[in-house]
Amino acid sequence: RLDPPDRAKLTAAYHAMQFVEDDMRIGLGTGSTAEWLVRLLGARSYLEGLRVVAVSTSERTEALARSVGLRTATLEEAGWLDLTIDGADEVDPVLSLIKGGGGSLLREKIVAAASERMVVIADDGKRVDTLGAFPLPVEVVRFGWTATRKLIEDVLSSTDLDGSTISPRMKDGARFVTDEGHYILDLHLEYIDDVDSLAPRLLAVPGVVETGLFIDIADTAVFGFASGEVHELGA
Ligand code: A5P
Repeated sequence: RLDPPDRAKLTAAYHAMQFVEDDMRIGLGTGSTAEWLVRLLGARSYLEGLRVVAVSTSERTEALARSVGLRTATLEEAGWLDLTIDGADEVDPVLSLIKGGGGSLLREKIVAAASERMVVIADDGKRVDTLGAFPLPVEVVRFGWTATRKLIEDVLSSTDLDGSTISPRMKDGARFVTDEGHYILDLHLEYIDDVDSLAPRLLAVPGVVETGLFIDIADTAVFGFASGEVHELGA
């Protein structure tokens, strides 16, 4: 029997299936919610003969997509995408997001930006009034990453985010390395007052590759509840 968080995630993924049409080129997100979607898509291609071309945002998703029988392609092969469906760590009322809890923010942003439409699927606990309680992942080049961290600290000190802490992401006792070979710094900010100005200031730091702030990218959010209900936000 599924636990309540999984029921909520599955509900959101199931509801988002309505946006998928035959012959679409679809971006597949990363994370536990996106994995439900990949399984559902695999089931539909098998049972209904649904033909979609899937572009994955991580090696993990790619392996799952292949294992459930989806036809996968690189973004170069697929070209422009019709739709990307992905999870999120936080979603605010205007559909700004924090993503990257699973460490795939760079590929996720590239794939979402190359899509006509991005649909976010999440359990209702991901819905927030203001972003920032979830640590903001920032993907940085490995070379000189401690200098990059210092420069990010300077950016935070010059804003009302002074006092925030930064932790290098770890996995199994070693630094976590992304699919693109970078490190991730998690910024513990608590509350991001001005999302629009923080993103460009972080991106201006040499060594910063991408941030987990997704602004003006998501078109729709589908929030699932363990009860089976859904709330939809956006267009
Ligand atoms: C992966 O890098 C993330 O952006 C995920 O989409 C996000 O962390 C949500 O993951 P869950 O669906 O596992 O909560």
